[in-house]
Amino acid sequence: MLRFDVMTLFPEMVAAPLSESIIGRAQKAEKLCVVCHNIRDYSKDRHRRVDDTPYGGGMGMLMMPDPVYDCFEAIPKVGEHRRVIYLSPKGALLTQKKAKELSELDQVILLCGHYEGIDQRVLDEIVEEEISIGDYVLTGGELAAAVLIDAVGRLVDGVLPDPICHEEESLSSGLLEYPQYTRPVEWHGVRVPEVLQNGNHQKIREWRQQKAIELTVARRPDLLGDKGDR
Ligand code: ADE
Repeated sequence: MLRFDVMTLFPEMVAAPLSESIIGRAQKAEKLCVVCHNIRDYSKDRHRRVDDTPYGGGMGMLMMPDPVYDCFEAIPKVGEHRRVIYLSPKGALLTQKKAKELSELDQVILLCGHYEGIDQRVLDEIVEEEISIGDYVLTGGELAAAVLIDAVGRLVDGVLPDPICHEEESLSSGLLEYPQYTRPVEWHGVRVPEVLQNGNHQKIREWRQQKAIELTVARRPDLLGDKGDR
């Protein structure tokens, strides 16, 4: 079972979105587990403070190294294959390939920053990898951690009903997914493409492949030609 440990000042921001739907069900079925740790519980300060002003001046507050380090040390280390990841806009962009790699580990420990960031010394000591979920800046790493857990968690064995699902779909194949239709056969004057209705599976495969290629050329030509990265 893959175990995620999340170090954060706002555990509910991570836990809440992962308690619903497929990942929620997977947790109940013990296909994976998500344990959130409140960094504030490791503050030695009488007022439970975890942040302080940056040396050299500048805007905002930084998370102090000790509560982060003590939180990390309190996390039980499970399995042989573990990774410690800091969510940050400075990190390498999260890709489907990276999600697949992480889904094969025993434990993924995620560190979420807040305020203006975290003292560099504790990052240098405990973090193995920095990951960004996109070229925009969030108020903290919590939503990024939830996104990463969702993307990685759905690749864990037994989480999706049918493993074929992720082989065929968007990005795993290196292409965007073809359009899909369900009943009614005509809706708002638009009919479901004839080829999908006649049960010729070879023809259906060809049509879907063709649509996936057209869509990828039109919207994400950058995905073509470097399949291996995604
Ligand atoms: N923290 C703030 N912005 C982020 C981003 N884009 N990805 C990951 N962590 C972040």
